[in-house]
Order: sequence, then C-alpha cells, then structure tokens
Amino acid sequence: MKDIDPRNLTADEWDELNFPRPDVNDFDQVVERAISRRGFLGGALAFGSGAAVMGTGMLSSTSAQAQAASRFPFTPIGIQTDFEVHVPQGYSTQVLARWGDPLMSAADGYDLTDGGPVDGSDMVFGENTDGMETFSFRGHELIAINHEYTNRGTNLPAGQEGTPADAGDVLKLQNLQGVTVMEVRETDAGWEVVKDSPFNRRITHNTPMTLVGPAAGHELLQTEADPTGTAALGTLNNCGSGKTPWGTYLTCEENFNGYFGSTESSIDQKPVALENGYARYGLGADGWGYDYHKWDARFDFSVNPNEPHRHGWVVEIDPTDPTSTPVKHTGLGRFKHENAEVVLAANGRVVVYMGDDERGEFLYKFVSNGTYQPGGSTEGLLDDGTLYVARFNDDMTGEWLALTPETTGMELAEILIFSRMAGSAVGATTMDRPEWISANPHAVEAYCCLTNNSRRGTSANAGGDEMVVNGPNPRETNEYGQIVRWRPHNDDHTSDTFDWDLYVMAGNPDVYNNVYGGTANVTSGNMFNSPDGMAFDSTGLVWIQTDGDDSNEGDFAGMGNNQMLVGDPVTGEIARFLTGPNGCEVTGLAWSSDRRSMFVGIQHPGGSWPDGSGLPRSSVIVVKRDDNGLVG
Ligand code: FEO
Ligand code: CA
Ligand code: CA
Ligand code: CA
Repeated sequence: MKDIDPRNLTADEWDELNFPRPDVNDFDQVVERAISRRGFLGGALAFGSGAAVMGTGMLSSTSAQAQAASRFPFTPIGIQTDFEVHVPQGYSTQVLARWGDPLMSAADGYDLTDGGPVDGSDMVFGENTDGMETFSFRGHELIAINHEYTNRGTNLPAGQEGTPADAGDVLKLQNLQGVTVMEVRETDAGWEVVKDSPFNRRITHNTPMTLVGPAAGHELLQTEADPTGTAALGTLNNCGSGKTPWGTYLTCEENFNGYFGSTESSIDQKPVALENGYARYGLGADGWGYDYHKWDARFDFSVNPNEPHRHGWVVEIDPTDPTSTPVKHTGLGRFKHENAEVVLAANGRVVVYMGDDERGEFLYKFVSNGTYQPGGSTEGLLDDGTLYVARFNDDMTGEWLALTPETTGMELAEILIFSRMAGSAVGATTMDRPEWISANPHAVEAYCCLTNNSRRGTSANAGGDEMVVNGPNPRETNEYGQIVRWRPHNDDHTSDTFDWDLYVMAGNPDVYNNVYGGTANVTSGNMFNSPDGMAFDSTGLVWIQTDGDDSNEGDFAGMGNNQMLVGDPVTGEIARFLTGPNGCEVTGLAWSSDRRSMFVGIQHPGGSWPDGSGLPRSSVIVVKRDDNGLVG
C-alpha cells in the first residue's frame, strides 16, 4: 500500500488502516471455490470471446453480438502514472471549477495559500467533488454537485497537522463540504461558472433541512434542539447522487459516522438499542479525526445521542429554487448511502435503487405506493412505499425481500432508521461494498459497482453476518472488484424477483491466471481496479470510474492511475477513455443538455494538479470532442 498522509485520509484509506488486508491469501482455495461456481462465471467469462458457456439463457444476446464491431468512437488510451488528465486523440479537456473558486463576488478574497479563511468558505466551490447531476431550467444550465469530505491537512493552517484548533476551524471544514448548486455556461472561450448567478448556492453541514416520511418525528430522531424530530441541520459526507423525473437533485449521505465523537470515553450508559445502532453504523468516541464534537456539541453523541440518527439519509434538493429547504427522506432508509438511481417503472411507480457502501452491507430498492404523473404532486413518492433488500442466489436468480414489521419484527420507523439491522433480519446477501448503481435507459436492467472487499471470506460484517463467498461476490479477499447487473422478471422494475450476472470481474491478467485475472473482457490493455462511479449515457453505453490502488505495482501493476472507462452492455467490451492525475479518484459524471460536453469530477488529486503549483485542488473538468460532436 502506498504511503498515506493521516491528515488527509479518504474513507477507503481510513478503512484500510483500521482493517488492514490479510498478509496471506490462500489462492488455491479461492480458485477452487470460484471454479465450482462456473455456472455464472462461465457466463461472465464468455464476454468478448463468443464462447458458448452460458449460465442461463439471459445472456444469449451477448453471445450473438460478441463479435460485433466496437461502438466506441475513439481509440482507447494507455495507462498513465503522471499528474495530468489524459483523454483520447480528438478530445480535449478544460477545468471548470476548482476547490476554493468563488461562486459569489463576496468570496473573491478567498485565499488557498493557508487553506483559506473561514470567512467566505461557504461561498466558494467546496472540496472533494463527487456525485453530480445537470439540470436545464428556463434556458439556464445548472450543476448540482456533492463535496464528500475535506482534506484537513490542506484546509487548516500547516502547523496544526490537520487538527481543528477552535470552533472557526470546524466551521470552515463544515462549510467546504455538502453540496454546490451553480449555474454554468459555454462561451467561445469554453465553459465557465456564472459567478453571482441567483441559482448559485452552497448547502453545508449546517444548512436547515426537514425530515419527512414514516420515521420523521420518531423519538430516535428527536433532540434537545429539535424536539419535533423533523428539523435537521446539514447533510454529511455527500457521496453519489441521483435525479428525479420531476427535476430535483438527490444527494446521498455516506460515511456520516466519521464526523461524530464523544467527549465521554464510554458510551455504556446508553440504552441497548442505541448501542447496537452505534455499533452497526460505526460510531466511535474518537470519530475519524474531524474533532467536530470537541467544538460543536451537536456532534458529541454523549450530549446529543440522537443526532447521528438524523444523518445517513437521501436528501432531495430543488436546484431551481435557492430558497428551498432540502428534504431528508426517511422512506429511503438509513445507511451509508452511495447513490440513488431513480427509475420509473412501466406502471408509473417510482423505483429507487441504492447501495450501502461498507464491507458486507446490502443492496436496497424502494418502490413507491403512488405513481408519478408529470406535472402532478410528487409528495410521498420517495417516502410512502416499501423498502426492499436484495438476496442473490447462486443459481443466478434473486429476490427483493420486503422490510416490513412482519418480516423483520421491527416497527416501521426502526426499520428505516436501522435499515442495516432490518436487512440482516431477513437474510440479505452481504455484498462487496456496493458503490454506484445505474439503470440502462435502453433495457430493463440495472448495474452496481461492487468496488472491493478485502475481508470477503475471512470475517463478518458489523452486524455479524458472515461474509461467505457467494454468487455475485465470488472471490475471497477481493481487491479488484466487479460489476453485477440484474434484470427484473417481467421487464418490470417493481418485480420482486430477478436474474443476475456479472458484467465484469476486474482483475490483473498479467499477474494472475485464475479468477484474480478477471473476466475475459478484462485485458492487459484495459485493466483497472475498484469500479465505483458509474453512469449510462443516453446512447446506452455505461461509463465506469475507478477509486482504487494507483500504485501501479504488484497486484496493480499495469493499471496506472485511476481512470474512466466505457463499456458496451451488449458485447461486454470495455475501453479506457480517461486517466486522472496520480492520487486522484475519478468520480462524478454528467452531461450538458446538448450532450456535447461531459462533466467529470477529479477528487483528491495528487501533485499540484490542476494549477501546476501550490496545493492540489479537487475539480470538475469538461470533456469535449474537438469537432464538437456528441459525447454521450
Ligand atoms: Fe463515497 Fe462509497 O464512495
Ligand atoms: Ca471518495
Ligand atoms: Ca464512491
Ligand atoms: Ca470508493
């Protein structure tokens, strides 16, 4: 593992330090187990080869078209290990927005040499961009984008080693995270942020929000400051995103637990239910080093034991109304939300697919009771319905298990607040860290990146569910990741049964001649690890972004920097389109309304990207074709 700066830990790095990978892998045993599951591996391995080994009939179209000509209109690029962004010949990039760029003139003095002052830190583009969506509103082009976390070492004065020294330091960190809504426009000189646009808005760790849905008002959501349990402050660790058919933005709270701590060393005095919840969601007295709890009592769970329950939700934001109050939807469950992929079922019901990104946690689906009518009321469409969790069977079928008082023995509000425990109660399948889910606009199917799981096959999840090797999670100590996809029965996203297969198992075919070499659509020329961000474009190609080991050594030799690839869901072909600067994760992807520009997020870059000197700055870039053709 590369050297890690403890002041600037990503969530993955924090996790690896606290739960290091085993030193020894018993590869013989792993291969034996995987081969015994050749029923489905055969299907996945057949991609790109035209081989006849198929797990089920569902992949026959893949076989027939495996030799079809490439749909990719570019020459794939090689790996890189430098501190630049690379795209294929015929394409160009520009930087659109960087951490610290003023969104309003009042923040023009914001200065990054010292991490920037607290004044104005809620009027600049935040740090560590992640999920984003574009909106076209009355001729205005808007981007809503998440700021997942901060590098404390670069945001606080150098001598403090990334530790807040006062409440002002904490406020600055809180301001630089959350969400940005901004207007952008394309000029002859390229794309730019429209400074002082009335749409520009920062939503931070302190912005007032409402809690709605079946759990709103429950005693577990009540605090001294908000005895109603319906008025929360702030959205935390905003990771992936989603977009509703009615034009609102969904931001997903992932590793919210890391911001909380306790000024009492013991939490033994809390009721058992609370202790179980804290344990399952990873709350600990020290937090992850943000130290909010030492300066802002709201984050001290010895003082405010229910405040953590008010985070870990999906939050809806109207990007067209800067005065609107963001809404936390309890109906979508509480866990470490990655993204929220909204699909309209043929019958008009709203289906939301959601992953819980932690080792051995679950995949969820929400189905609304009501139906969406364009122009009609959307109230309740993200709250009144049923939350399901996925069970994958080794025979390549699966079911969505309803989380109800009858199936779980929990009351509805508890099911939503402690969704992980509800999932365990019904026997959900432990997954290899579900990251983004994306639905194919041209077929009734959805894909989920399972980024990696260093403890697959060796231990249990935080709830005690053993992470045994299983169908879509077939490799012990899985360091490369895979993408699972499912096709609902009857071509109906509200169906509670489905077929599944693996679209790709990442691996290193230069190092391994076994399951760790990946599926047949992984080659020396396109290999990657840890798929994470993912989005289908309007043509039905699937774009895959990585957040993996970019050491380019050992098991990761030949993979280079984190990257963005594009996949053909029909043939299985995958090609490398973009490489990011060393140290970065490529995450977040959206298109301009004319589809001639693609917006891509570069999170936690290394070196001094993109300025060439000074601090590295998380940024959004624009990718265009030189002939101004369509890019998705
Ligand atoms: Fe924030 Fe699971 O990535
Ligand atoms: Ca990240
Ligand atoms: Ca992610
Ligand atoms: Ca990740």
